[in-house]
Amino acid sequence: MIKIVFATNNPNKLREAKALFAGKIEIVSLKEIGCTEDIPETQPTIEGNASQKAFYVYNKYNIDCFADDTGLEIDALGGEPGVYSARYAGENVAFEKNMELVLEKMKNKPNRKANFKTVISLVINGMETQFTGIVKGEILQQVLGISGFGYDPIFKPTGFTETFAEMTAEQKNKISHRGIAMRKLADYFNSNKK
Ligand code: IMP
Repeated sequence: MIKIVFATNNPNKLREAKALFAGKIEIVSLKEIGCTEDIPETQPTIEGNASQKAFYVYNKYNIDCFADDTGLEIDALGGEPGVYSARYAGENVAFEKNMELVLEKMKNKPNRKANFKTVISLVINGMETQFTGIVKGEILQQVLGISGFGYDPIFKPTGFTETFAEMTAEQKNKISHRGIAMRKLADYFNSNKK
C-alpha cells in the first residue's frame, strides 16, 4: 500500500483522513516520521502555505506527503481574514476573539457573502498537485451553535438554515471546504492507482 504523510498536527484531521483512505493509502502522521518542529507557514496566500508545508516535509524527510491550509474569505472585507484566519485578532488568541473581530468589522455591512477555502498540496516524487474545496455562505450578525471550531458559529452555508456550528461533524463534512478538497484528493488517488 502507498504510504503518505499528512503534514498536520491536528488529530481530528488525521483521524478523518485515515478513515477516508482506509484500505487504499496508509496515512502517516508527522509524529511517526519524527517531525516535531513547527512547520513554517509564512506565505501570503492559502495556496502558498499549503505548498510550503508539503514541500518542507518532502524536502526534509524525503517522503511523499500532503498538507492543507484553510481560510475564511469575506467579500466585504476584501477577502480577509483569509490566510490570517488563525491569527486575525493576534497570535495564539482564542477562536472567540477572531470571531468577535470579524463581527465587529462586519457591523453595518450589508454584503454578508463569504466562503471557506481549503487548499491541499500533494507532493509525490517532488511533483506538486493542488486540490481546492470551496463552500459559499454568509456571515451572521451573531454566533449560533456550539459544535465545530473556528468561525463555524458565524458561518451559514448557502442553501442551509443552520450554521456549521449547529451541524453534526458528519453533516458539516459532507458539504465543507475541507471535505470537498479531501474527496478530490481521494478521487485523484483512486483514478491514479496502478
Ligand atoms: P487551518 O489551515 O486548517 O489550520 O485553518 C486556519 C484557520 O481557519 C483555523 O484556525 C480556523 O480559524 C479557520 N478554519 C479552518 N477550517 C475551519 C472550519 O472548518 N470552520 C471554521 N473555521 C475554520
